[in-house]
Amino acid sequence: MKASAMGEDLQKLGLDAKALPSLNRLPPEKLRQVMKTFNKALGTQCTGCHEANDFHAPTKNKKIASKMWDLYVRGLVAEDGGPVFCDSCHEGKMEFLDRHDKKALSAWMDENFVKKLKRVDKKENGCETCHGDPFEPHILATWVK
Ligand code: HEC
Ligand code: HEC
Ligand code: HEC
Repeated sequence: MKASAMGEDLQKLGLDAKALPSLNRLPPEKLRQVMKTFNKALGTQCTGCHEANDFHAPTKNKKIASKMWDLYVRGLVAEDGGPVFCDSCHEGKMEFLDRHDKKALSAWMDENFVKKLKRVDKKENGCETCHGDPFEPHILATWVK
């Protein structure tokens, strides 16, 4: 987990990586440009989230992406105070968690998503920031159901 390396891409669009507005506040032209930053940060294409012939149609990955924008990108900063954007966690990949050993993954989460991130609301960051209390392992499924 590192501070975003895409601050400049966002700046070119007139956006401050540390003070991003909610997605539905972006004028259509700017929203379209922000989409290209998603492609780059996740190493995907528009159809990674959209149906090719209907960009307005709701999809699972659109729902997840909006949640990640609101809760993670707008809600967290790096431990050094630097901005968090999609690339901070995704580093050019849609999927990047190694889930085969849950114990090792929990240790990885603590190292990367707890110790290396801070909450914008200044509350202490812990597993419950994202997983809630009681602990919900399948966050994404709760967002798309
Ligand atoms: C990581 C997922 C993701 C990728 C990749 C992505 N989009 Fe989006 N797109 C979204 C989300 C999320 C919204 C906003 C949905 C909302 O809040 O209504 C959106 C909205 C849009 C909209 C407005 C329609 C709407 O539903 O609001 C257009 C047009 C669009 N995207 C085009 C593109 C294009 C063109 C690309 C490739 C350059 C692209 N998107 C790549 C997630 C994605
Ligand atoms: C704090 C870390 C973090 C940030 C920041 C973050 N994500 Fe994610 N995202 C994750 C994790 C963890 C997963 C699950 C990955 C896996 O299964 O390997 C994920 C999964 C996703 C998926 C589903 C991929 C799939 O195929 O299952 C999408 C889409 C996505 N993120 C979009 C985004 C977008 C767009 C942004 C920026 C607005 C973003 N994420 C920012 C951590 C993050
Ligand atoms: C910044 C957000 C964030 C924090 C903080 C966080 N996680 Fe996660 N974690 C995720 C996301 C997102 C996923 C993917 C969830 C999904 O696939 O539905 C995930 C997945 C997991 C999984 C895999 C679940 C499965 O069954 O595949 C484990 C285990 C896990 N986290 C443990 C932890 C532990 C333990 C902590 C605290 C030390 C923690 N996480 C902190 C975001 C976070």
